[in-house]
Amino acid sequence: MKNNKKFCSSIFPFFLSIFCLPHLLLQADASAAPEDFIRQPPRKIVYTQHKRSESEPQQVHVSLVGKDNMRVTWITEANHVPSTVEYGPEPGKYIGKETGEHSSYHYFFYRSGKIHNVKIGPLDPNTTYYYRCGGYGPEFSFKTPPASFPIEFVVVGDLGQTEWTESTLSHVDNKDYDVLLLPGDLSYADTNQDLWDSFGRLVEPYSSRRPWMVTEGNHEMEIFPILHPQGFKAYNARWRMPYEESGSTSNLYYSFDVAGAHIIMLGSYTDFDQDSHQLKWLEADLGRIDRGKTPWVVVLVHAPWYNTNTAHQGEGESMRKAMEELLYKARVDVVFAGHVHAYERFTRIYDKKADSCGPVYITIGDGGNREGLALTFKNPASPLSLYREPSFGHGRLRILDENRAHWSWHRNNDSDAFMADEVWLDNLSKSKACRDGKDEQSVKDEL
Ligand SMILES: *[C@@H]1O[C@H](CO)[C@@H](O)[C@H](O)[C@H]1NC(C)=O
Ligand SMILES: *[C@@H]1O[C@H](CO)[C@@H](O)[C@H](O)[C@H]1NC(C)=O
Ligand SMILES: *[C@@H]1O[C@H](CO)[C@@H](O)[C@H](O)[C@H]1NC(C)=O
Ligand SMILES: [Fe+2]
Repeated sequence: MKNNKKFCSSIFPFFLSIFCLPHLLLQADASAAPEDFIRQPPRKIVYTQHKRSESEPQQVHVSLVGKDNMRVTWITEANHVPSTVEYGPEPGKYIGKETGEHSSYHYFFYRSGKIHNVKIGPLDPNTTYYYRCGGYGPEFSFKTPPASFPIEFVVVGDLGQTEWTESTLSHVDNKDYDVLLLPGDLSYADTNQDLWDSFGRLVEPYSSRRPWMVTEGNHEMEIFPILHPQGFKAYNARWRMPYEESGSTSNLYYSFDVAGAHIIMLGSYTDFDQDSHQLKWLEADLGRIDRGKTPWVVVLVHAPWYNTNTAHQGEGESMRKAMEELLYKARVDVVFAGHVHAYERFTRIYDKKADSCGPVYITIGDGGNREGLALTFKNPASPLSLYREPSFGHGRLRILDENRAHWSWHRNNDSDAFMADEVWLDNLSKSKACRDGKDEQSVKDEL
């Protein structure tokens, strides 16, 4: 087994995908995780077939662009299909039509289909639109987010494409929401490009109906020396996010505003040190926030900065050191991370100490991927860690108004009505003590 593993990772991905795939799919993420913890059995991979014609759209997903536009992304096998989207607020009556752009990419012997990206709008808030891609195939619909509170986000990390993923998505679907946020690790294709296509088809019933806003995890890298040294080839081609609109030069980090919330998507797997573009961009982005317009500031990142699981210990530490002070001074309300396949909620923290002016840190890497759960937490528990559990599930952040938000975590094992964990969050930017810079902190608890 060991030898086989070595053999599989040392030869070209072509052979790797043909001969070693089944083996790699079964193996845990040995490169990143220590092998001394036991995971709950993963469930089977679900391969989602393409069932439409080659001109018809597949893998449809929508994402927010700017104040009142949506980007529609889909893939066709046929090259003649135009990158156009027809749309309107009534089924079958398309009053708008936009043309966008297309691309494709190679990865070793794999060649992607035609990837279409079309920006449509301006659109009314909180409104259902019906749309058709490239003039072929079925009609889809999505609902735009509201322009003001309340707004509800679903947060789900490390999704993958297993029977657990299906369970998570059906729980997500049980209750309406406005925008889905994903802090990295989408398809777990891990160089097998067909699995990117399969993932796109698996999530289409969800990602074509509500905007999905994602950032990258380690499983998006797919770096191969010399031939694909930059990585993120499939991810950047398939999951284009609105980075130019927020002044970023990279699809790997960006921000956007929606209904009184400023959401920042950070990149754990691109430069973040003192001289990095990402750090300078983050500083400028935080400086531009107007808390009068967006009272809530939410950050997503893949590798957690705070983590009491034995898996992936310390992996977010250098990024924390580079960026935590910026987030703290900007009074970021909450930081979501993935990567660790479990759920964990911390109190408000700054610099490893409880601090009532720091963000709440939440790890939500339990979307359902093939690697299973990170079962073991360090003991004794830190007093900063308020709830931790290795179970598959998803979270919901419902922002009621400029003062209050409600966070809940929903286990796949339970019916959706049941909240395994929940907490009310108060307006941090409006807290007088924090605003005046007099941080009323309790330094009793340390990590
Ligand atoms: C969005 O529309 C729904 C149904 O039409 C309505 O109940 C809700 O209040 C609206 N939300 C906002 C924020 O306008
Ligand atoms: C924060 O929200 C609470 C609850 O709505 C409200 O009572 C309080 O006045 C708000 N604080 C500030 C400083 O606005
Ligand atoms: C899942 O739910 C069932 C029924 O409520 C319960 O018996 C079982 O112990 C739960 N499993 C876990 C792992 O929580
Ligand atoms: Fe990860």
